[in-house]
Amino acid sequence: MPVNEDRVPWLPERAARPAAGPLLFLRSLLNNPLKIGAVAPSSPKLSRLMASPVNPSESLVLEIGGGTGSVTRALLETGLAPQRLVVVERDPELAAFLRREFPTVRIRCGEALQAATIASGEFGAPVQTVVSSLPLRNLAKPDQIEIVRAMLDALTEDGQLIQFTYAAGCPVPEKQLGLKAECLGRVWANLPPAAVWRFTAARNAKRANTRH
Ligand SMILES: C[S@@+](CC[C@H](N)C(=O)[O-])C[C@H]1O[C@@H](n2cnc3c(N)ncnc32)[C@H](O)[C@@H]1O
Repeated sequence: MPVNEDRVPWLPERAARPAAGPLLFLRSLLNNPLKIGAVAPSSPKLSRLMASPVNPSESLVLEIGGGTGSVTRALLETGLAPQRLVVVERDPELAAFLRREFPTVRIRCGEALQAATIASGEFGAPVQTVVSSLPLRNLAKPDQIEIVRAMLDALTEDGQLIQFTYAAGCPVPEKQLGLKAECLGRVWANLPPAAVWRFTAARNAKRANTRH
């Protein structure tokens, strides 16, 4: 989908050095393969699918695991104003890169486990959408559940968590967490192919009741 610069006046020009993002991604990957969890940045098609459930005029959005910004760009391309978006990235070098690429977006060098604190600190409220590129399947099951719960805690009651995965099935134990899971589609033009999932609170299931 071509970007309409009139509709999105705050969308920054693509990097003057277009190779800078992929090279930095590769370096971060070599330094810390399990924590990066992908062999390449998300493709534009995957990033657009990740951004597609966002209502740009009503949503506050927390992006977790910003990497080199392909999903950040797709979120801004929906027409989402930069002040409605906060990006959390744990790697300081990637966070610094994101700040240079998206000077009008709040980039927080931090940890997904702090999602709710970051949302209330930045917006003073929970958000309607959390968009996560975290490599969940590289984590042990208890850590996976802890991190997904932390992201759910940043959401409003009717909020949505968007997560991509390279796995064939659902990347989150949705029943255990009281969630309704919906696969939004699979992108074959991605390295490797990936699917995007949307999680919302299941009707008649209270997330709080699933905590022990
Ligand atoms: C798959 S990569 C980034 C994908 C991103 N959409 C892109 O295309 O550049 C996942 C990112 O999540 C970050 N990350 C991993 N665990 C994290 C955590 N617990 N909290 C915050 N960021 C994390 C990594 O540093 C990495 O940049």
